[in-house]
Amino acid sequence: MARLKVAVLISGRGSNLEALIAACSTPGFPAEIALVIANREDAGGLAHAAKANIATRVVPHKSYPSREAFDGALIAALEKSGIELVCLAGFMRLLTPGFVTHWRDRLINIHPSLLPAFPGLDTHERALAAGVRFAGCTVHYVWAEMDSGPIIVQAAVPVLAGDDADTLAARVLIAEHRAYPLALRLIGEGRVTVADERARIDGAAAPAGIVLNPAD
Ligand code: GAR
Repeated sequence: MARLKVAVLISGRGSNLEALIAACSTPGFPAEIALVIANREDAGGLAHAAKANIATRVVPHKSYPSREAFDGALIAALEKSGIELVCLAGFMRLLTPGFVTHWRDRLINIHPSLLPAFPGLDTHERALAAGVRFAGCTVHYVWAEMDSGPIIVQAAVPVLAGDDADTLAARVLIAEHRAYPLALRLIGEGRVTVADERARIDGAAAPAGIVLNPAD
């Protein structure tokens, strides 16, 4: 079967991009990354793409007079490469409703919280301030409202005594690197459908049991 043609949009370090590149290089993986787009030329993740011989484009948002013009340039670049699914991976620009509608059910994002809790910026600080016992990440289809849309995969990690935003972010990031490749594989295998504002996964394996934090 043909592999799903994917673009990854980044703004920075690109560790999630790196995890997706690694996944796509495993035998039988149902997706390939055909294009990486950054909105900043200093995005560290561009180097991961270049090392893997993946085509890169820098589309600097500052060069466009409006969000609509910037998003139009993104759409043109994505369509020129025949992209079927767009993955946001630390892409720190809000996309216009026009872009989101254009890519409806073909646009996914990873956010470092258990949505709908703590959307937006400073998510780890806010999770710690709220005293939650679990944090995590969410891979979801993108709807126009920030960090919203049908949830595909979530991964949970415990919040530990003495955590600060950095230690918590590092623990969540490890979970992100498992959750995003899983979501991409499920979509590539054609097992994810969106209906009634929910993502449904065909034949998903259920995780076992209950996890308590504190554990006793
Ligand atoms: C990741 O933690 C990702 O979840 C987050 O930015 C980081 C990017 O890291 N995204 C958001 O906060 C989007 N709302 P990376 O560049 O190493 O993948």
